[in-house]
Amino acid sequence: MLNFFGSKKSENVAVEDIHIDLNNIPKHIAIIMDGNGRWAKERMLPRTMGHKAGVEAIREIVKECSKLGIKYLTLYAFSTENWVRPNEEVNALMNLLVQYLRNEFKELDKNNVVINHIGDISKLPKICQDELIDAYNNTKDNTGLTLNLALNYGGRDELLRAFKKIYENITEGRLSKEDINENTLSSYLDTKGMPDPDIIIRPSGEQRLSNFLLWQCAYSEFWYSNIKWPDFKKEDLHKAIYDFQNRDRRFGGVK
Ligand code: IPE
Ligand code: IPE
Ligand code: MG
Repeated sequence: MLNFFGSKKSENVAVEDIHIDLNNIPKHIAIIMDGNGRWAKERMLPRTMGHKAGVEAIREIVKECSKLGIKYLTLYAFSTENWVRPNEEVNALMNLLVQYLRNEFKELDKNNVVINHIGDISKLPKICQDELIDAYNNTKDNTGLTLNLALNYGGRDELLRAFKKIYENITEGRLSKEDINENTLSSYLDTKGMPDPDIIIRPSGEQRLSNFLLWQCAYSEFWYSNIKWPDFKKEDLHKAIYDFQNRDRRFGGVK
């Protein structure tokens, strides 16, 4: 058992003395990084400043996940539905992505992180695609945390892309109907080879999935908090992990 002490200044959940069982660390944590806009509004700042603060918040959480030995961290950064936002906001988000990869690459690589992405990145500006592909190629042999950046990601879109691939493989004789089971479908998703998320964390008070990891979260534990993403700190992560460790996961069975 490791003892984490955290003192909270804001509206955050009170964390005084959290005992995280290092023998029961989740393998995969997925976070819907929500609340950037409201964080900015509260401070009478433009929404893009909220996104900038949101990107800043990522550093501490990735570092902490690495330190705790978590194998996969998936961050929902831009959904297939987020394109409907004003052009100015979408462009700012794309620029922030490029800046993030450029600024953080060295540190992430040093910490043995694999910088991966999920979602249909072919619709992102070319510069974003290039940076994401380079970041992956240059870190794919690292053996620590895999950081999945979910970009132009939608659970429905991911399933549609998988179904189309399966159809193609069937019509071209590489796959038969009998071969298709849950594992087959999982292997056609962007998260191929990864365990399903143990916890889905959503800050900012919303209690919905917003098209995130629809297939993979069949048995994920949900953890909500009113804190906005730019204020999310490692103590909040500890609290989520602590709560997860005290949940009774039955997977349909009885105890
Ligand atoms: C999350 O923050 C970031 C993205 C969806 C890109 P929001 O921008 O959704 O913030 P709110 O929900 O408006 O506060
Ligand atoms: C979900 O947040 C997507 C990301 C955090 C990237 P949204 O702010 O887009 O979700 P809704 O619109 O509140 O459902
Ligand atoms: Mg939002």
